[in-house]
Amino acid sequence: MRRSRIAGVGHYVPENVYTNNDLAKFMDTSDEWIQERTGIKERRFATKHEETTTTLGAKASKIAIERAGITAEDIDFIIFATLSPDYYFPGCGVLLQRELGITKSEIGALDVRTQCTGFVYALTVADQFIKSGMYKNILVVGAEMHSSGLEFNTRGRGVSVIFGDGAGAVVVQPTEDESKGILNSELHSDGTNAEVLSLLCPGSHGGHHHQDKDQFGFPEKNKLGEIFITEKMLDDGFLYPYMDGKVVFKKAVVKFPEVIASTLAGVGKQPSDIDLLIPHQANLRISQFVQKILRLNDDQVFNNIHKYGNTTAASIPIALSEAWEQGKIKDNDLVCLAAFGSGFTWGSIVMNW
Ligand code: COA
Repeated sequence: MRRSRIAGVGHYVPENVYTNNDLAKFMDTSDEWIQERTGIKERRFATKHEETTTTLGAKASKIAIERAGITAEDIDFIIFATLSPDYYFPGCGVLLQRELGITKSEIGALDVRTQCTGFVYALTVADQFIKSGMYKNILVVGAEMHSSGLEFNTRGRGVSVIFGDGAGAVVVQPTEDESKGILNSELHSDGTNAEVLSLLCPGSHGGHHHQDKDQFGFPEKNKLGEIFITEKMLDDGFLYPYMDGKVVFKKAVVKFPEVIASTLAGVGKQPSDIDLLIPHQANLRISQFVQKILRLNDDQVFNNIHKYGNTTAASIPIALSEAWEQGKIKDNDLVCLAAFGSGFTWGSIVMNW
């Protein structure tokens, strides 16, 4: 039976380190508040005008491609997960193709927009393409340049202290080795609370999902004029991410353990069988909660949020790459990836390394 295996993994984080005290120069916050609530000590921010989400993704990709022992020209499909793309369109997939110098057109490029679960969704899609035999070398990337659109002032502090920039990538290949590769994955969504963690504007919604349409400053219904972006959206901060942190937290600590246990059970395994759990680095308190519920010890859970903050679609591949570099993932280890985030969406992947 053909399975998908990760043949190479890499990550890249920008050089510029911003500590919690650095952020406190721009907003009313403190190192103590941020560390206590999130576990974050510092994060990386890309260099504006020089780096983009795509260039971060390209740096991570080059490492993953080299470690897989192939060249960029061998890649036959790209899946790029991000919520902070270079352009509204086209997506980062084709920009990455260009950045990597892949000039052949016998390749596809797909963008995935499921925010914090982006990498889990993207890798699951890759797994299906590999199993079906359609592609042989799929590059799966998660990358974010959050710093390009966060509100670095006291109004935005509830969101801006949490997020950081970075990228991670893997090359996925087929294997006939029964003992290796992705064993199972689960993807879930529930749109009921779609706006609880969101960036609403610019967009085409025209207030459709909202009782108070006037809050966006749209022109009158029958008059020509933009609804995509308005002065009021700019003034009132609708072009920045919004998060009801408490609602996200409560849902995350239920869905994370649920989906991990269920994905493991699908292949006759249980949490105690996990060699390494790599949870989306949303918040250290969420990961600690999940660890406790699943009764895992410290060696079974990988955390690096203290160094990078929440890098959304990039957090799992960055953590996977670091864990691999640190020798925390060995041949035949049972590795579990799990994520929860905006949408809400959540999912998990279980694999034999
Ligand atoms: N620094 C200092 N104070 C801050 C702050 C900051 N960066 N951000 C918010 N506050 C203030 C609030 O204004 C509020 O003040 P008030 O009591 O005077 O109104 C107080 O701190 C408590 O805010 P609240 O939002 O209720 O805090 P919280 O305990 O819920 O913690 C989060 C906030 C975001 C850390 C927490 O809700 C959380 O971790 N949620 C999950 C978020 C997450 O993981 N998101 C990513 C999902 S993929």
